[in-house]
Amino acid sequence: MEVLIFPDSQSLASKSADLVESQIKTFPDSVIGLATGSTPLGLYEELIKRHGEHDLSFAGVKTFNLDEYVGIPSNHAQSYQTFMDENLFSKIDIQPSNTQVPDGMAENPLEVGPAYEKMIADAGGIDLQVLGVGTDGHIGFNEPTSSLSSITRVKTLTQQTIEDNSRFFGPEEFQPKLAITMGIKTILDARRIILLAHGENKAEAIRDMVEGPLCAMCPASALQLHPRTTILIDEAAASQLKLRGYYKFVGEMQDDLERKHRPSDWVSR
Ligand code: F6R
Repeated sequence: MEVLIFPDSQSLASKSADLVESQIKTFPDSVIGLATGSTPLGLYEELIKRHGEHDLSFAGVKTFNLDEYVGIPSNHAQSYQTFMDENLFSKIDIQPSNTQVPDGMAENPLEVGPAYEKMIADAGGIDLQVLGVGTDGHIGFNEPTSSLSSITRVKTLTQQTIEDNSRFFGPEEFQPKLAITMGIKTILDARRIILLAHGENKAEAIRDMVEGPLCAMCPASALQLHPRTTILIDEAAASQLKLRGYYKFVGEMQDDLERKHRPSDWVSR
């Protein structure tokens, strides 16, 4: 895993946007996997800005979101479809028919997973997957003890995830306890992965993911198996990493190498 540590969330958002931008500019028909939640908001703001200022077009891009709650309609204020519409899709030139979010209101939610996998395969697979991480180490909604070879399916959320996300729901409001999520295998099949995290509340999950054993108790540790994953974190999220100094040193060496041997091989396909 490549670990990049940033002094603040703005520089983290800007670097992650550089990576997404170079992917899309090199392959305008890229297939991008997207996450919701607080973490990618800075990245999405930056992409919207670059769409306006840098000629960054999403017209040929296809997207697949990681997950969606089961039991709330797509136009519900807290659905992940609404989140994506409000925070990204409505502000860029992406074609709505090229954006996919799992259907949390399907009559039979058990059928959504296999159909979603087929859509991803038909699109040629995911070139670049954007991830956040839960305080319990989940990626997508693959909660602790999820199979490391799981595919898209219905998952029951843990009490911790329900509590973490309760801030978005009113006290009397129905809060979903189930979600449809890409599986860990689905995520690992992406050609390139970036995982973003900031804040001290993510420090333990980041430590377990990067330096802990490969273990279903920390689903994000499965990323240790992926050949091209970059972790972009701020100092607070990096605070429990033992080899923090080493990752910074690796970053400096990489920068030197890139300066010497451009173009970098960053983009995938
Ligand atoms: C969201 C998702 C989740 C979040 C994670 C972190 O689509 O898949 O894994 O990335 O729960 O959430 P935030 O960013 O709100 O801390």
